[in-house]
Amino acid sequence: MSVPLDIAALGARAAAMIEELGAISESPDHLTRFFLTPQHRRAADLVGRWMREAGLDVSEDAVGTVRGHWHPAGADAPRLLIGSHIDTVGNAGKYDGAMGVILGILALDTIRAAGVTRPFGIDVLAFGDEEGTRFPSTLSASAAAAGIFSPATLAMRDADGISYHDALIAYGKNPDDIPAAAYDPSKVIAYIEAHIEQGPVLEAEGEPLGVVTAIAGATRLSVTVTGEAGHAGTVPMRMRHDALLGAAEMALAVERIAKADRHGMVATVGRMHIDPGSINVIPSRVVFTVDLRSGSDMSRREALERFEREAHRIADLRHLGVVISAFHEVGTVPCFRDLQLRLRNAIADLGHSSVSMASGAGHDGQAMSKLCPIGMLFVRCRGGISHNPAEYASPEDMGLAAAALVRFIERFKLPQIGDATGGVQT
Ligand code: GLV
Ligand code: MN
Ligand code: MN
Repeated sequence: MSVPLDIAALGARAAAMIEELGAISESPDHLTRFFLTPQHRRAADLVGRWMREAGLDVSEDAVGTVRGHWHPAGADAPRLLIGSHIDTVGNAGKYDGAMGVILGILALDTIRAAGVTRPFGIDVLAFGDEEGTRFPSTLSASAAAAGIFSPATLAMRDADGISYHDALIAYGKNPDDIPAAAYDPSKVIAYIEAHIEQGPVLEAEGEPLGVVTAIAGATRLSVTVTGEAGHAGTVPMRMRHDALLGAAEMALAVERIAKADRHGMVATVGRMHIDPGSINVIPSRVVFTVDLRSGSDMSRREALERFEREAHRIADLRHLGVVISAFHEVGTVPCFRDLQLRLRNAIADLGHSSVSMASGAGHDGQAMSKLCPIGMLFVRCRGGISHNPAEYASPEDMGLAAAALVRFIERFKLPQIGDATGGVQT
């Protein structure tokens, strides 16, 4: 017998929860919720309360990930992990990350309410550092759960100079406990994440749900260009060493390189800091970021080499210095084929076809793939708009996604993937 599903009610609950979580922000005017801030604390408390109300046991790990445990087969039984993140970019939408956590809670609530048990456990995870918007530490919370947290992360600093290490302590955590946050790979079956698509494909296809085939690899660079400060009124144009003009040319080179790529490469210069930042002083130092992504790791690597050559050529011509360092690097991650099939079957059970698609956005699944097979479910996004307050998924689509998770969980059979240690990765 299948778990009874009221998709409209699930969608309405998801929408109400999205609003409640989306109201927790550093500003009443827009949604900004960074890692290890008071807003993170309040969001984690709310998610913990929801998990408890859904009948889950709640714990929190050493980097603040909220974990809701459902262990009908005992704490030692292998477990499925379902998660996403509750941090946001600045001036964010309400769905990116939050929706995946909420849908996981609703799916488990529905399953428990139906009195169904499974021969495995499920943990719902609410990670706090997917975006890398406070520290340049993207995916650090899922990295801790996956056992790949890099100790160098602790030295990273936010815009106010506060280190990750000190922020953790102020949040009430002990950095020495981070290794214990790692799951034992032999106890984990798979990681599943539902997420708003953040692109226009599902809307164009007229389908509410998609199944992710792979997550594009990404590199994030910090580029420091140094020139010489000088008086804006006295130094002739030909005698200047303007760091900003060199940086601007390098940013255009990034665009040119990405546009010339044939694997759908995208590259963004999203942050630029100009020193001394004065209207009448020639810029002496510029630090900017490059976020470069591609479905082909080889083309991403080639593009990085080309950018490095271009940046040095531009710097030499302008008599500037340039230093390039990568602070985030993750290869293309395939989603496990068996999980893709099971997600497609769950969607078909609800009378819908699913679209198979790659993800250009980054996700906690990239870090979790180092622990276990991963699968991802995408939910249609209005206008393809994300990282923007206009981001929106309809209650109907969210209800369907929660229902698909329920069907996925109730039909999930251990033997096919139970020996996930070997994991027949695609
Ligand atoms: C996360 O949202 C990313 O892809 O930047
Ligand atoms: Mn995001
Ligand atoms: Mn996200």
